[in-house]
Amino acid sequence: MAKSVIETLQDHRTRRLFTDEPVSDDQLAEIITMAQRMPTSQYLQAYSLIEITKPALRQQLAEITTMPTVGEHGRLFVVLADQHRNVQLAPGATTRQALSEFDRFVGSIEDATLMTAAMVMVAESLGLGTVVLGSINNDTQAVIDALKLPDLTLPVFGLQLGHPADVPEVKPRLGLSAVLFKDQYAEPTTYQEELTRFDGVLNQYYQHRSSHARTEHLAHMTAEATHSAAKRREFLNIARRQGFLPELDH
Ligand SMILES: Cc1cc2nc3c(=O)[nH]c(=O)nc-3n(C[C@H](O)[C@H](O)[C@H](O)COP(=O)(O)O)c2cc1C
Repeated sequence: MAKSVIETLQDHRTRRLFTDEPVSDDQLAEIITMAQRMPTSQYLQAYSLIEITKPALRQQLAEITTMPTVGEHGRLFVVLADQHRNVQLAPGATTRQALSEFDRFVGSIEDATLMTAAMVMVAESLGLGTVVLGSINNDTQAVIDALKLPDLTLPVFGLQLGHPADVPEVKPRLGLSAVLFKDQYAEPTTYQEELTRFDGVLNQYYQHRSSHARTEHLAHMTAEATHSAAKRREFLNIARRQGFLPELDH
């Protein structure tokens, strides 16, 4: 019996450890076909998934993500932004140009993102655990080469799903006043009280969690998170090599 959407979201935490219990092909098909029900920009379904089944390939992705658990259990996918299929469906220079420019480049990333989010929700509603792996883009070109990705495709995320082997604590989120504004943008200074409250909750979470407990604060965490950005600077150039964003050539 699947959990409701609300129960699933209340219970969400990223899982990184999985048991060796298999996820059946039937269950996988259900997860993917349900996730495909998500809205898709201009009805272009501009995404594809590649399941990683070869152990050597999986090991390579584990190394790229620097997460040994990626090489272990559960099923592993790379989610692609994909306008390649659409170019084959409607050949012609004008269509190709439109499908590769910024607007449809973003559209394909949006589609891949919504698809991934829905797979997370469906899998978790069925009692499975998931981890989205942005870290496959620590080495985008290696992923493109390993998966033989043609032009107008780009890896967006990895997604690993399986039967969870542990129960991490639920991570807190910002309160509504920090993310929901009325009629115009609200600067953080106008909801400072919420930021201070959240900082306290965040610190409590990090101090008391069962693994890697530490003292942590919002400002420090936010600054630290940007450190991974440097090695991903190549992403734009790689997207262009894959045929996206031709308008930048002029
Ligand atoms: C786009 C995206 C990329 C992510 N990449 C990784 C990753 O490479 N490795 C990882 O362990 N977790 C990754 N995560 C999971 C986040 O770290 C996690 O969602 C966040 O810390 C909040 O924790 P929670 O999902 O348990 O609530 C990613 C999440 C998103 C949305």
